[in-house]
This record gives sequence, structure tokens and C-alpha cells, in this order.
Amino acid sequence: MINKIMTIIITGGAGFIGSNFVFHMLKKYPDYRIICLDKLTYAGNLSTLAPVMENSNFRFVKADICDREAVYKLFEEENPDIVVNFAAESHVDRSIEDPGIFLQTNIMGTATLMNACRKYGIVRYHQVSTDEVYGDLPLDRPDLFFTEETPIHTSSPYSSSKAAADLLVLAYHRTYGLPVTISRCSNNYGPYHFPEKLIPLMIANALNDKPLPVYGEGLNVRDWLYVEDHCKAIDLIIHNGKIGEVYNIGGHNEMKNIDIVKIICKALGKLESLITYVSDRKGHDMRYAIDPTKIYNELGWRPETMFKDGIHKTIQWYLDNKEWWETIISGEYQNYYDKMYDI
Ligand code: NAD
Ligand code: DAU
Repeated sequence: MINKIMTIIITGGAGFIGSNFVFHMLKKYPDYRIICLDKLTYAGNLSTLAPVMENSNFRFVKADICDREAVYKLFEEENPDIVVNFAAESHVDRSIEDPGIFLQTNIMGTATLMNACRKYGIVRYHQVSTDEVYGDLPLDRPDLFFTEETPIHTSSPYSSSKAAADLLVLAYHRTYGLPVTISRCSNNYGPYHFPEKLIPLMIANALNDKPLPVYGEGLNVRDWLYVEDHCKAIDLIIHNGKIGEVYNIGGHNEMKNIDIVKIICKALGKLESLITYVSDRKGHDMRYAIDPTKIYNELGWRPETMFKDGIHKTIQWYLDNKEWWETIISGEYQNYYDKMYDI
């Protein structure tokens, strides 16, 4: 009997973390079949996947995770063993402007994928979630961290839609016995990060000598993880994680926004006078901080890239790949930027 090769559907694989995960999986498991399902929204870039398009173990399918017919057809064609769901509307500021599509993709899309998993059978459905489902922590309590037991307590339409999806995933496990896992990671940074997010936005603006828009006083804290470390954690969870469990992912690297922006200025030889304080984000979460004890102890995962190395690798990537982000910021994105930033 010929063994079927391991087949994994990666949704949202043309976006930031999903594309890094596609590269990681194809490199580490050359005998797996990897299928990327992506709608190619403003955040998805087919050019990002160009290096793997010709790989015979890779297939790209342009489809919406909310499109039941397209999703079921793909399951029939590919009979996947594992689904890893990265596909989402991911930007908090956009969710504040217009929540509707966040509810549609992040909640209904997740349900559509899981319904397909139930109908066709699956070994594992993995939901890529976020630390934002825990809400925020106060700045004056550095002793507090998010554990997997921290209650869900969301702030934005984005985080609420991700939390709703998490609850649905756990409900499909309990009610239908669907073999699921969930990971909740802190802020990622690295190659192919869409320029609407803090780190790439600041790098691109600094390189163009444009103002660096810092929300409020820049004192909000995020817990930054190099994207490759996130990908390695998900790889471990889908292979060795316990079904029905949630795993937090983070590397204890809390930093204030303003300090990140200053590091970028320094690395690029730009004056801090480019920093411009702008109106704060509505409902802005103060501090995120992950307690990764569970994934450390149960799966032996550790972050491998220190922030001082990761940020320099990232800045170098944006210097070496100007065409990638210049194409993005010169298109439709400019309208969004002009609407969002009055500077
Ligand atoms: P991204 O916005 O860069 O990419 C999202 C991708 O999903 C894009 O390729 C887009 O085309 C695709 N997509 C969107 N709607 C779709 C739909 N309806 N059907 C099919 N494809 C669709 O996002 P990202 O930053 O790479 O985040 C990926 C996942 O990781 C998200 O679920 C996000 O909530 C989660 N996450 C992100 C971070 C972070 O720091 N970026 C941290 C923790 C968790
Ligand atoms: O924590 C995980 C989350 O991290 C993910 O779930 C989200 O998908 C991802 O977008 C990210 O959310 P944040 O809101 O933390 O990331 P963002 O890059 O948008 O902002 C980081 C911090 O920087 C935040 O405190 C807001 C601030 N900021 C952001 C932008 C875009 C600014 O000060 N100026 C800006 O122009």
C-alpha cells in the first residue's frame, strides 16, 4: 500500500505570517504537500509566494474562506490531513473604521473551514489566534502576564472577532469532537510584514524621510516575537500539541512603541525629529505580555531570535526588498494612509 503524503492546507498563506509559514514548511518537510488558500485581499501578495510557485509540492488556490463551495471543492480535491488557519482581517485600526468584514472573515470564515473539516474528516484543525483576545494589562503591574487561563476580555472589533472564532473552535471540539488546537501569539515582526503595521510602517516612512506617527505618548507595550519563531511554534503544535488545547506563544520581549521607533531611527541614521505624536487609537490596549510556560514545558519550544538581531535582520530585509513594499505603498494603500494619518 502506498502511504498518502501529508497534505496541509494553509489559509492566508499570501500574508505576513502565513507566507513565512509556507516557506518554513516547504523547507523543513520537502515531502509534504502544501496548499495555500488565500483570497488575496489588500494584505495578500502573490508576488511573496513567487519563490515557491514552481515547487511541485506546492499549490496556490485563490479563494475566500467564507466561500463554502470553493472550500468544500478544495477539500474534495486534496483530502487534507491538517488545516492551519491564518486567514483573517488582521489590522486593529481597520477594524475600528469598519468592523463588518472582520466578523465575516474571522468568524464566519473559521466556521466554514471547520464545517468542511467535519464533513470530510481531518487529523487536525489549527486556529492561529492572538494574545489580543486577553485584552490588555496595566503598565504599573509588570508582574502580570497572560496565561492560557486568563479570561477572554477583548477591546477592539478585531480582537473580539478573533475571540469569537476561538470560542467557536473550542465549541466544535467539545460538541462535535473536532480535533483542534489554538495558538495565541504576541506581536510578530520580520520579512513580508505589511507596511500598515508599526514596525514596517516606521521603516518605510523613515527611509522616505516622512513623519513617524506615534499614537498617544508611545508608551503602550507590545511583546515582540520574530516571525520564524512563531512559525516553529505552530509547526510543533500541529505535530505534537494536545488536541483541544490552547497554547500561548511569546518570548518575554516587552517593549514600548516609542523605544522601537527610536531603535529604527538609529539603525537607519535618521533624526528622531521625524517622530510625530498623533491622536491615540480608540480603545488602545496598554500592554500585552505572554506567559509562555505551557509551550516551554510541554513542547520544549523556545524563541531563537533575540530582538536586537531580529530587528536588524528585518530592517535589512526592507532595505534589500524595496520593490516589494514600494509597490504596496504606491497603490491603493496610499488612500488608506491619507485617510488614517493626517500628517
Ligand atoms: P495579514 O493581514 O498579513 O495576512 C492575512 C492573509 O489572509 C492575507 O494573505 C489575506 O489575503 C488573507 N485573507 C484575508 N481574508 C481572507 C479570506 N476571507 N479568505 C482567504 N484569505 C483571506 O495577517 P498576519 O499578520 O499574517 O496574521 C495572520 C494570522 O495571525 C491572523 O489570523 C492574525 O490574527 C494572527 N496573528 C497575527 C499576529 C501579528 O503580529 N501579525 C500576531 C498573532 C496572531
Ligand atoms: O498582539 C498580536 C497582534 O499584533 C495581532 O493579533 C494583530 O493582527 C497585529 O496587527 C498586532 O496588533 P497591534 O495593534 O499590536 O499592532 P500594530 O502594528 O498595529 O501596532 C503596534 C503598536 O503600535 C500599537 O500600540 C499601536 C502603535 N502604532 C501603530 C501604528 C500602525 C503607532 O503608534 N503608530 C502607528 O502608525
